[in-house]
Amino acid sequence: MKLKDKIALVTGGTSGIGLETAKLFQQEGATVIVTGTQAAHLKDAAQALGNTAMALAVDLRDVAQISRAVADIVDTHGRIDVVFANAGAGKAAPLDAVTPEQITEQFSLNFNGVFFVIQKAAPHMPKGGSIVVTTSFLNEVGTPGLSILSATKAAVRSLVRSAGAELAPRGIRVNAVSPGPIETPFHSKLGLSEKQLADTGEAITSAVPLKRFGQPLEIARAALYLASDDASFVTGTELVVDGGLTQI
Ligand SMILES: NC(=O)c1ccc[n+]([C@@H]2O[C@H](COP(=O)([O-])OP(=O)(O)OC[C@H]3O[C@@H](n4cnc5c(N)ncnc54)[C@H](OP(=O)(O)O)[C@@H]3O)[C@@H](O)[C@H]2O)c1
Repeated sequence: MKLKDKIALVTGGTSGIGLETAKLFQQEGATVIVTGTQAAHLKDAAQALGNTAMALAVDLRDVAQISRAVADIVDTHGRIDVVFANAGAGKAAPLDAVTPEQITEQFSLNFNGVFFVIQKAAPHMPKGGSIVVTTSFLNEVGTPGLSILSATKAAVRSLVRSAGAELAPRGIRVNAVSPGPIETPFHSKLGLSEKQLADTGEAITSAVPLKRFGQPLEIARAALYLASDDASFVTGTELVVDGGLTQI
């Protein structure tokens, strides 16, 4: 049991990578709190995780909602040992079609959401606490139509270093897991047509040295490593789990 008796907050824990990670953290002994926005996803996640878990509706674009959720968790459990700041989303658009509103929208979830979860949770984390953030292979490559999503992830990669530096004196580690293409509902929300999705999927699969999409559990296992004491001397880093896409 790598997370025995730990209290673990997983944002975006109602779907895909976050839900799979919440399940793994729970199997490893943690009490998990997942957040999401859609009532149906929250209900399904709560059912999958059972009654020791909490499933909270939190729109991470709203700092007041983050503060309230952290207060709820601390009221119930007294502390937070592990934060997996994982929620994220993106919309595809070519450079000439991007609007200021789209930039604000994507940064407010993918960057501000991560930033304020860390800011609000960190004061309640004891020495030995661990924060893991989900970045993306997109922060290492240029992809047509994904300039804003990629930039949000590059910003978050930078934040991992700064937050790691600020929290190290308190014995709190901050790291990122960087997924390659993973089979989750994420891609269907990018605003691409079925044909664009299929073509992009094929192109990505052939570009990945291991010739496939990854599974959410393969990211969950990396998040578990960073969250647990197995990574007790690891901070500020980004663990790449992308089938070799950005590495070979
Ligand atoms: N899948 C990939 O290929 C891939 C690759 C690289 C990086 N990533 C990153 O991995 C992370 C998880 O993505 P995923 O693939 O697991 O996608 P997913 O299945 O679409 O899950 C996204 C999660 O984020 C939550 N969420 C969306 N908007 C939110 C908001 N405004 N406030 C709070 N929560 C919100 C969703 O909750 P509701 O559904 O309840 O709204 C859901 O739980 C993201 O940061 C993504 O950028 C994914």
